[in-house]
Amino acid sequence: MRTETEQTIYLKDYAPTPYRIVSVDLDFKILEDTTRVRAQLTIEPREQTPPGTPLVLNGDELKLDSVAVDGAPLVLSAYVSDANALTLVEPPHRRFVLETEVTLNPAANTKLMGLYRSSGTWCTQCEPEGFRRITYYLDRPDVLAPFKVRMSAPKALAPVLLANGNLVDQGDLGDGMHYAVWEDPFLKPAYLFALVAGDLGSISDSFTTMSGRKVSLGIYCTHGKENECHYAMDSLKRSMAWDERRFGREYDLDVFNIVAVSDFNFGAMENKGLNIFNDKLVFAQPETATDANYHSIERVIAHEYFHNWTGNRITCRDWFQLCLKEGLTVFRDQEFTSDERSRPVQRIHDVQNLRTSQFPEDGGPLAHPPRPDSFREINNFYTTTVYEKGAEIVRMLATLLGEAGFRKAMDLYFERHDGEATTIEAFIKVFEDASGRDLSQFATWYLQAGTPQVGVTDSYDPASQTYTLTLTQKVEPTPGEPTKKPLLIPVRFGLIGPNGSPMGFGSVSGGAVEDDLILLDRDSVTLTFTGVANKPVPSLFRGFSAPVKIASNLGQEELLFLARHDSDPFNRWDALQTATTTLIANAATGTAWSGTEVDALRQALVDTLDNPELDDAFKAQVIDIPTEPVIGRHIGKNVDPDAIARARADLVRALVGPVAEKLESIYRGLEVTAPYSPDARQAGQRSLRNGLLNLLTTGSDRGSDLASRQYDNATNMTDRYAAMAISARNWTAGAPALLGDFRTRFAGDPLVFDKWLTASAQAPDDGAIERMRATLTAPDFPRTNPNRLRSLLGSFVMANPVQFARADGLGFRFVTEAVAEIDKVNPQVASRILTGFRILPTLETRRRDVGLDALRALKEQHTLSRNVSEILDRIIA
Ligand code: PHE
Ligand code: ZN
Repeated sequence: MRTETEQTIYLKDYAPTPYRIVSVDLDFKILEDTTRVRAQLTIEPREQTPPGTPLVLNGDELKLDSVAVDGAPLVLSAYVSDANALTLVEPPHRRFVLETEVTLNPAANTKLMGLYRSSGTWCTQCEPEGFRRITYYLDRPDVLAPFKVRMSAPKALAPVLLANGNLVDQGDLGDGMHYAVWEDPFLKPAYLFALVAGDLGSISDSFTTMSGRKVSLGIYCTHGKENECHYAMDSLKRSMAWDERRFGREYDLDVFNIVAVSDFNFGAMENKGLNIFNDKLVFAQPETATDANYHSIERVIAHEYFHNWTGNRITCRDWFQLCLKEGLTVFRDQEFTSDERSRPVQRIHDVQNLRTSQFPEDGGPLAHPPRPDSFREINNFYTTTVYEKGAEIVRMLATLLGEAGFRKAMDLYFERHDGEATTIEAFIKVFEDASGRDLSQFATWYLQAGTPQVGVTDSYDPASQTYTLTLTQKVEPTPGEPTKKPLLIPVRFGLIGPNGSPMGFGSVSGGAVEDDLILLDRDSVTLTFTGVANKPVPSLFRGFSAPVKIASNLGQEELLFLARHDSDPFNRWDALQTATTTLIANAATGTAWSGTEVDALRQALVDTLDNPELDDAFKAQVIDIPTEPVIGRHIGKNVDPDAIARARADLVRALVGPVAEKLESIYRGLEVTAPYSPDARQAGQRSLRNGLLNLLTTGSDRGSDLASRQYDNATNMTDRYAAMAISARNWTAGAPALLGDFRTRFAGDPLVFDKWLTASAQAPDDGAIERMRATLTAPDFPRTNPNRLRSLLGSFVMANPVQFARADGLGFRFVTEAVAEIDKVNPQVASRILTGFRILPTLETRRRDVGLDALRALKEQHTLSRNVSEILDRIIA
């Protein structure tokens, strides 16, 4: 029905503001029910701005109490104001101070953008456009100013008062009130503003920077949770040291604070000197957090910290450039984790994530370039394409330039753009200038949507000892982009001889090859290698050197050969994944596998498990059977989730059957007896053990009992959760009892409740939807908390295709009805859940039709936010 304004914003319309904000002085008077914000903005026209140019400040759901210029209240004819803007019709043509006052109701702010309350704590979220919900402002990232913030609040409700920068003053005001003044000397855009006021506990520590400055570190949280913040603190100190070592970047303020809050739309936010975190990415103790949680905490703490240089010191000119900071910072956090843990294991992890989330986005109705050129709602563009594909693009730059060349370019980036709000073009220019390369073709990666498909054919001529390799590339059309340009695709490669060792060659002609890098820069490149003594097996895209889909020409035998012999661990893993995916996908679409194929695959898995040179974390990833959504994506069209689930389970049974006993004995031998530690080695051992439990549960009759026993005996959440989640996903006889026990055992811990919600939502049993409905409509379900809603509905749409994409439409309707309700409370959470419908075009027609019906009903029967309408229209289109 009716929707909010449908206006589209275009990159091509970018123009600087006619006015500059010279400095910002904010005064927050926080009272129990309302907060009064007085803003004094020192403003001046730019040199080119003609006198009489109106000044238009953004607002969002604001109500103006008073407005003055240079201390004198404005007459009514001098300004126009409504909830969304304050316009000074004819501002002075000189520097002046604009003073406004507004009153906010943070407790009623369920959108969690701007100033809101989370469990009593006042906190803010301003990226991308939340600051305009706090005060009238030029709320865009290219308006940079120094901020001074004074805040006063009742001492009893908010003994802790925090904002960006350094604390410069504080004291008592009488009447139970107190105040603090914070000053941030660094120019920043409003989206990096933050304020926190509340009754919080904390832990503190310090870090001495490479130039010898001592920085105070604090992590603030609900009282009683302090002991769960130490892993986050440790991660922070390691991040600070790593950024100095690896990128020469030193922290720049005297204080760095982190606050954990329970209601948060994303993972965390990099506000200058005052990061605000979703508490699930801070709190960890062995009994309630999994190894995966520890891993995420480390990664996100690092990510937000790294933003201080890539995002804050150098920010984005406009929101179209979002991946300038996000892609680069994800690349940096991936590198951090690789250096701190195992590089190959991290790479596999990141590629799995890319294939599970980004490839489906890039191949469906929500596809968009990493640097889009239009949007209706910017909040819908915090996507895996911007983040994870953005990181892959930076990784390709690092591959092209080499380690030293990449560091040189990054140094130049920091030197040239520090203090600026800049663009992708400027970023690429830095890499061109530092390397002398022409990167104009490479830039297409940022501007074009879609995952390239690379085709491979080869032949060998023994008489002339030449080997010929042809690589082709093709990108399917994506919304709004019917034709595609060829990309510059770096292909890291090696040739492997019949005995499994690397093979040399004489010369290569026909295309650009730099050492072990083929530059695939046209639709098709044919390379001729001379002096090749035997027919080689090619190992292509080592380390996943480009975010592409590889239509390999290799048969199962060659894939298993690579799995055994490739010197590149990523490709060893990938070869087995490809072999497995192909067998399942074929079976699901009517081509049965042969006994020999299964035997060979089983042998490869067993050999991996028996190989003493491989570490447990790597083995765990090798025995991880591709998930149903990944197989569905591989099939691509006319997908029947039931057929995939059946084929997958059948294959696992065929693989496991003859070796179940052996797997069980390896499983038993892997039990960790040492006290719990989240370190990579111990976590790897647990993940292998739980991987085996998963295989045994899907593939044998032993699993159900093993899982129940593991659940009962577990001494940490990793093992307990794995046992429950595996049981639920395989819907074993023991699953209902484990779900029941878990729910009551941890009642009262919301972050553990999320785990229950996820496991329950991913179970493929026919009762899943009723169970979810009952949970969601229970009177005590926290309907406004994003973590709860995402754990239930996000997990369902993304990871339970059997129930979500039911042919009777029950799954789809359950979700659209929930989305309609959630949209009234928090449009960002609602639209994020709705993106699960992007799979519709891949489904068989019956399911697609009922899915579209559910979406059309949502559109016709409800007044929807801009967030939800945009996603809906793009999927229906
Ligand atoms: N900028 C945050 C990050 O990636 C993400 C975020 C976006 C958080 C919008 C809140 C709101 O680190
Ligand atoms: Zn980020």
